[in-house]
Amino acid sequence: MITLTAVIMKENFDDLFCGSTDVYPTNTQFQPKSISWSSADLIGQFQKNDIVLDSKTIAEMKEGLWNDLCSEYDAENFCNYLKGSGVKLSNDFKSFEYVWRRDEFNHYLGFKQIYSLLYDVTEDDIVKEMKRRPVNFEPIKPMLQDEFKICLLIAYDEIATTKNYASEYEFYTSFGPANFLRWVKNVTRDEAYHFNNCMELIGKNFKNRINEIPKLVDRFIDWDLNGEEYHGTFVLDHDGPYFTSEVLNTCGDTIKNYFDRKR
Ligand SMILES: [Fe+2]
Ligand SMILES: [Fe+2]
Repeated sequence: MITLTAVIMKENFDDLFCGSTDVYPTNTQFQPKSISWSSADLIGQFQKNDIVLDSKTIAEMKEGLWNDLCSEYDAENFCNYLKGSGVKLSNDFKSFEYVWRRDEFNHYLGFKQIYSLLYDVTEDDIVKEMKRRPVNFEPIKPMLQDEFKICLLIAYDEIATTKNYASEYEFYTSFGPANFLRWVKNVTRDEAYHFNNCMELIGKNFKNRINEIPKLVDRFIDWDLNGEEYHGTFVLDHDGPYFTSEVLNTCGDTIKNYFDRKR
């Protein structure tokens, strides 16, 4: 397990956290599973002419990649929302939030580079466009009322993202350089860890609320399939063609059965 201090020194992510002066707890009972790595180390050296993807595939993937890029960035919005929400968050949650936010930011940096290379947009222009998008947590506030619900909603989002990225290995293989496949596999592993960390946190601190899970998860799925448009909230952004009712219900079942499997 890498200590938080070591992570800060290694990455020097000064601007990473909500109000970068926030102090994150280091000695919590709950130790989130995580691996610190860097998108830049893995794919930062590549230029457009290293990528052998055909132009048809590049065009087809544009919207999906933009959505992935936005979602990763929107972890920032999510943290900032939590910070101002007044919801009481435990130190266990905060130790998870630290590694989670670090990971999502690293994913964002990787997607930003990939998008810039494939679509000839400068990274500065991407950042400007990213920040111009509307952010609105109001409609989903009832699903974020307390730490238990927040953990469950993140878990739901992370399992769906894990499956989505794992379904795209072939696409990243066709970039040419093997590091792009390695990159998306690292990202996918992080998403799976995020899912597990949230579920383990629920198992540790909210055992008495496990019976609420099925109803809440059905509500998330219903929102994804029939709810309002996505507005920069990180969660509940599953509106691409991959996220069919079948896929989302499989994700839901994984969550609903999570604690049964452990008995
Ligand atoms: Fe991510
Ligand atoms: Fe994630």
